[in-house]
Amino acid sequence: MKFVVKTWHYKRFICLLEIIAVLLIGADMKKRYINVGIIGYGTVGKGVVKILEENKKIVIRKIGTPIHVKSICDLVPIDKSELYVKNFHNIIKDPEIDLIVVLVGGYEPARTIIVESLKEGKNVVTANKAVLARYWDQIFTTAQIYQRSIYYEASVGGVIPVVQGLSEGLASEEILEIKGILNGTTNFILSEMTKNKVSYEQALKNAQQAGFAEADPSFDVNGIDTANKLAILASLAWGGWIKVKNISVRGISDLNIEDVLITQDFGYNIKLIGSAQKTRDGVDLSVQPCLVNHENIFVTVENEYNAVMIKGKNSGDVLFYGKGAGQQPAASAVVSDIINLSKFIVTNTAGIIPDVVYDNRKKIKILPTGKSRASYYLRFTILDKPGILSKIFKILGDFKVSIANLVALPDIYNKDYGRVIIITQETYRQNLEKALKYINATKSIVKSVPFSMKIEN
Ligand code: HSE
Repeated sequence: MKFVVKTWHYKRFICLLEIIAVLLIGADMKKRYINVGIIGYGTVGKGVVKILEENKKIVIRKIGTPIHVKSICDLVPIDKSELYVKNFHNIIKDPEIDLIVVLVGGYEPARTIIVESLKEGKNVVTANKAVLARYWDQIFTTAQIYQRSIYYEASVGGVIPVVQGLSEGLASEEILEIKGILNGTTNFILSEMTKNKVSYEQALKNAQQAGFAEADPSFDVNGIDTANKLAILASLAWGGWIKVKNISVRGISDLNIEDVLITQDFGYNIKLIGSAQKTRDGVDLSVQPCLVNHENIFVTVENEYNAVMIKGKNSGDVLFYGKGAGQQPAASAVVSDIINLSKFIVTNTAGIIPDVVYDNRKKIKILPTGKSRASYYLRFTILDKPGILSKIFKILGDFKVSIANLVALPDIYNKDYGRVIIITQETYRQNLEKALKYINATKSIVKSVPFSMKIEN
């Protein structure tokens, strides 16, 4: 601990000298070029190198100095053998490298690379949302102590400048709500199912082939990827650390084409929505498939596109929209981060004012899941006998769930069963869950577990 504190004071002292020198000598102190090390040379890494090569003039125009990729580390040798290093420590310890781009997925060694890089006085750019969401506290505390910057625009919403929009564009705002489609893979799957009536499995295959999905696509379809991104935006918005475990998460893997078609007839499309909303009793956090009506702006967001709506107290709703997945959009966001961070590196001011205002003593109150209020779409497969509907109505009523709309349909697969679709009034989630559990447990009412989905306002 003593050593860390001493190192910290030493680094602050050096930093102070650097600032004084910059102020005295001005532009002469500017670096002649920025040396970048890249760790992780997969799809996005290759895209980053390509854009940096193609856009050299744009870079110089923006920051006045070239950006030079000095080393690239990957598990296997790469086509640019003159830049290849096998061990990431060689990049972290290289005194000539100013900025390290971490494009390694998962938790480890990504966490070690980021934290060690900051401790070595490097500035960092990353696209890794999982590691940021899980180690927010450690990463941003380290960045503050060592006065270095970490930029992570590509971690949320691909190319959309939502991190910058939230932290800079809306810097003056008290944020009331963040809501969005934050995963390109699931949005692509839902669009394919809606437009082309293909099965869930086929749509997922198409998304994987297009290169949108994570290495393990269960992170996409189970909602975890959306939850990581929502945790990042919410932590940034409210200056604390919102953990993924605080978010109620449901993915899209239990949806079938039938629900897509039925809900379309009701005037809705299904979208996977991540939502963080300030309420009097805490922040209401969820990731779940939702029904959005055809006038809702999220309906127009299709395929791999993402959209995030941020509501500020004075700004009102602000919408961010663009490609949320794919090599080029992600690489473009990484390069923008490299350029923006380099503006501070050339003047030796990176990390002096923390980019993320993070106080690890700040506790953010979370609304218990059951206290969340919404209207719901319910689908029951019932035995086609007299009296069944009244039993369902009674149980819903007993748990204070009011019905707004109801339709009974034949079951196209089995004439002994019927389908009942109910749209509820706004209700507490805990009441609905208890009612559905009770209906499911009561003998001779339903053939299979009742299906429910939130209706987005
Ligand atoms: N798998 C992610 C998505 C990639 O589909 O959105 C971008 O984060």
